[in-house]
This record gives sequence, C-alpha cells and structure tokens, in this order.
Amino acid sequence: MSLPAPAPEALAHSQRLADLIRQEIRAAGGWISFARFMSMALYAPGLGYYTAGARKFGAAGDFVTAPELTPLFGRALARQAAQVMAASRPFILEAGAGSGRLAADLLLALEAMGSLPERYFILDISTDLRQRQRQWLAREVPRLLERVEWLDALPESFSGLVLGNELLDAMPVHCVTWEDGAVLEKGVALDADAQFRWQDKPAGGRLLEAATAIAGECLLPPGFSSEVALAAPAWVATWGERLEQGCLVLLDYGFPRREFYHPQRHGGTLMCHYRHQAHPEPFYLPGLQDITAHVDFTGIIAAAHPRGLELLGYTSQAQFLFNCGLLQDLETLGPGSLPYLKAAGAVQKLVQPQEMGELFKVIAIGKGLAEPLLGFARGDKSHRL
Ligand SMILES: C[S@@+](CC[C@H](N)C(=O)[O-])C[C@H]1O[C@@H](n2cnc3c(N)ncnc32)[C@H](O)[C@@H]1O
Repeated sequence: MSLPAPAPEALAHSQRLADLIRQEIRAAGGWISFARFMSMALYAPGLGYYTAGARKFGAAGDFVTAPELTPLFGRALARQAAQVMAASRPFILEAGAGSGRLAADLLLALEAMGSLPERYFILDISTDLRQRQRQWLAREVPRLLERVEWLDALPESFSGLVLGNELLDAMPVHCVTWEDGAVLEKGVALDADAQFRWQDKPAGGRLLEAATAIAGECLLPPGFSSEVALAAPAWVATWGERLEQGCLVLLDYGFPRREFYHPQRHGGTLMCHYRHQAHPEPFYLPGLQDITAHVDFTGIIAAAHPRGLELLGYTSQAQFLFNCGLLQDLETLGPGSLPYLKAAGAVQKLVQPQEMGELFKVIAIGKGLAEPLLGFARGDKSHRL
C-alpha cells in the first residue's frame, strides 16, 4: 500500500490515539471488539478522526460527500424537506452535519421557496465539527443562523424531518466470521510488538442474535466474513419513541441484506479513506483516516418497524434526486453557461450509476404522513428491501 506520508505532527497525533487504544485493549484483558476500535479511532474525544481538527471533507480532505460537490444536492433535498414539513411540523433535525454545507444549502433553498423551518437542529457527535458548522453557517447564511440550534442528544420528542447524509456508514460496526455452526467475532488485540492485530472470539449477546438472523436469511458459505451493524439500526430504532410525526430521510451507500451478505462480497465492505485513496486497512494510522462500512438497509428497516416506524420509501440516490427536481434545477443555470458546466460535472457524479447514483440509496422511515413522499414518487421499483 503506498499512501502519502503524514506530517510529523499528524503522525505524533496518531501515535497518541494508538496508545490510548492500546491502553483500552490492555484494560479490557487483551481484546476489544472492532466496533470499539472504530468508535475510538473515529470519535475518541480530541483525538478521533472526526473529533480532532484535521480537514476531512472536500478536495483538501480525505473524501468528498454529495453536499460538498454542489449546492444543487441541497436544493433538491429542500423540496423533500418542504413536503415533509408541510405534512408534519416545520422542523428539521440534521444528524451528522459534517462541514455544515448541506445545512446552509438547504436553508437557502427553503428560504427561496418560502418554506423555512422554524428551527434547524443539528446533532453531531463531533464538537470540532460543530464549531466548523457554526462558522460555515455564520458566513454563508448569517441572517438564518438564529434558526439553527445545536443539540447534545436526541430530543425526547420531535416532529418534522430528520436528515442524515452519510451518517449511518460512519457508525461503528462489528466484524464477524460465520463458521459451520459457530459465529466468531473478529476483534482487536495486540501482538508482541504492541501492534494491532485481528483476533477471533465466539460472538455473544446481541451480536450473536443479529449474526444468527443474517445467517437465517442469507446463504452464507462457511468462513464468510463481513460486518454486522448494531449501532446504526439501534440509532434508527430509538426514533420509534421520539418521532411523533414526520420521517427520517437517510442517504448512504449500501445494499439490501441479500446483496450485502452475498457470497461474492466475502470479506465485507469495510473501507478506509486517506487523502482520496481508498484502502481496506483499518489499523493504519488511527485518527488520520476515515473508516466506514456500507449500510445493510434491510437491517435498518427491520429494527425500525417493530418500534412503530414505517418504510416510506427506498430507492437509488439518482432516482430520488431526479424525483426531487435535480435536473430542472441544473437547467435553470442556463445550459452552456460556466455555472451550468461546473454544476453538470457534479450532477453527473451524483447520479451516474458507476459513481454515486446506484451505490448510494435513500431510505425514508416515519409515521403519520398520509401523502407519498416526493423523492420516491416515480421510477424504478427494483429497489426493494
Ligand atoms: C461521513 S460524515 C458525513 C458528513 C455530512 N453529512 C456530509 O455528507 O458531508 C459523518 C458525520 O456523522 C457524524 N456522526 C457520526 N456518528 C454520529 C452520531 N451517532 N450522532 C450524530 N452525528 C454522528 C460525524 O461527526 C460526521 O459529522
């Protein structure tokens, strides 16, 4: 693997985080789950990838997300947001708001439509990103800043739209191998040189239950290994008690369960991003690289349904954005003009099947909404869970 070398201070930062994880492994008797490793690598206070100060999003960071590509993404989402707010309450809660770009683009678009939310709540696990979001919004939409409120925890009750772009893929996952008659959890231990290494142990508790359910639904060859998400489905399920009326719209890369746990996807979907290079080595430079896993969308709805949340839509990102008027918005820039040409490249990335158009999906889950949601109104019905 040849990745760009980090600067000495970045390396020292990563060493501090690696030492903290080592301490945790030793204190736990020599083994921690991969989910715990991932949680520390991404979110350890002041040291994790998302909680320390490095630039993550956009050209100067490690990866590019849809809102960083073009404001047309937020403009399209604004139509869906307006419909949900009109049918429930005029509130948006964005979870995992990253740089704050989507919030600013959405607020601007909703203002132009005369559909501003009364409040735009942001819930982000990263205090560092919260500061960046505040700075971005203060610069881009100063007159609307008073509507924005940062939350420290999920609200007890909420009506309106809950939005998350690339949120679920950033939640920790467990790593599992299904052997004949046994489920092993791949966790993290230390070798003789105190380097991180994989170590298996029998899976137990909720993880064993979830892994057994997956084996019951999918034809897994012996020795198949992949990830099992517990945190993302649990996060969605907690909205069952909290959401009074409205819906969650979550955009992310992933598949229905039968595709996620397909024999051809042996080894799973764990992916790391460091300076625009993707690689599969999660132990590399903790704190300096993103670690993600694709989303098992069947697991998301399976966790939400028993809590009184209904599946309101599931489709590809391309179809969703088309339904929300992305191409019409592009046209308004004036075909052939410089802004049009710039935006057209970004739009292609968002919708082309070989880019984000097919791998990225949009799922809507909610309650108390009578009308079908705009983003799922037309199109390809092959996207089933
Ligand atoms: C991959 S980034 C996506 C950022 C942004 N939505 C975008 O599309 O550019 C993941 C974001 O989710 C946040 N996050 C992760 N887990 C979270 C949780 N449990 N609650 C709230 N935010 C979370 C991270 O701090 C980060 O802002």
